[in-house]
Amino acid sequence: MIHTDVHACLFPVAGYGTRFLPATKAIPKEMLPILTKPLIQYGVEEALEAGCHTMAMVTSKYKKAIEDHFDTHTDIEQSIQGSSKETLLEPLNALIEQASFTFIRQKEMKGLGHAILTGRPLVGNTPFAVILPDDLCHNDRDGVLAQMTALYAEHPGHCIVAVEEVPQEDVSKYGIVEVKSFASNTTADLLRITNMVEKPSVEEAPSNLAIIGRYVLIPEIFDVLEQTPPGKGGEIQITDALLTLAKEGKVLAYRFQGRRFDCGSVNGFVEATNFFYEKEI
Ligand code: G1P
Repeated sequence: MIHTDVHACLFPVAGYGTRFLPATKAIPKEMLPILTKPLIQYGVEEALEAGCHTMAMVTSKYKKAIEDHFDTHTDIEQSIQGSSKETLLEPLNALIEQASFTFIRQKEMKGLGHAILTGRPLVGNTPFAVILPDDLCHNDRDGVLAQMTALYAEHPGHCIVAVEEVPQEDVSKYGIVEVKSFASNTTADLLRITNMVEKPSVEEAPSNLAIIGRYVLIPEIFDVLEQTPPGKGGEIQITDALLTLAKEGKVLAYRFQGRRFDCGSVNGFVEATNFFYEKEI
C-alpha cells in the first residue's frame, strides 16, 4: 500500500452496457465476472492498492447490484459460516472494511465528462483517480493506478492519463493523444500531451497512442468540464476538457507497465477470462 495525495477514486458506472445485451438487461455490465470476480471488484482492488480509500461511484437507478456487492450480506454469511466457502468472501470483506463506498446517481447519460462532473460532490477539491472498470488492467508488480499515483506524487498539479499504442484501425474507439517529451522526466514513459482528439478517424488521428481507462485528475478539471460543450457523439467528453488543461501544459501521458484488457468487447472479455484462468491454475 502506498501513501499519496490521491485518496479518492471515481468509478463512472452509470452506462447501460448495451454491447453485452442480453447479459446486461438486468445485471450491470460492471458486475459481469472474470472467473468468479466481477469487473468492478478488480477496479476497486486496483484503486485500494494505489492508496485510494474512498470509492466514489457514479451510478444510475439500474445499478443497485453494485451497491449491494460492496455491502454485507448476512444471510449468505450465516449460511456459509464454518464451511470452506467462507474463504470465497474474505477478500471482498477485507475490501469493504478498508474502503468507504459513496454513490451518486447520474440522471442523464451525457457522456464520460458529464459522469465525472456528476461525481464532484463525492470527490471534493482534491486530486482524484478515475477507473473505467471495462478496462481491466493487470501487472505482476505495482498495479497501473499505483504506478500513476506514485507519478503524481512526483509531478503534483498535473493530470496523468494512461496510454498505450493501438492498431491504426482502432484509433476511432479511443481518445488519441499527441505528445512531446517531458523535460524533467527520467524515463521515456512519461510524456507531455500537446493535443488530444476523442475517437478520431484514421486520417484525423494525431498518433496511435490511445487513452485507456485510468486517469489521475486535478480538481480544476471540474470547472473546465462545466464550460466544456458537447463534443463527439453530442456528449460531454473528458478528452475535450483535458485538452483545455493540456494547452496549459498540465496533462501528462503515461505508458504504463502491464496488460490491459478491453472488457467492453466480447473479444477482450474472453481474452481476460483466459488470462486469469491460466494464472489461477
Ligand atoms: C472512453 C473515453 C476515451 C478512452 C476510452 C478508454 O471511451 O471517452 O477517450 O479512450 O474510454 O476505454 P468509451 O470507451 O467509454 O467510449
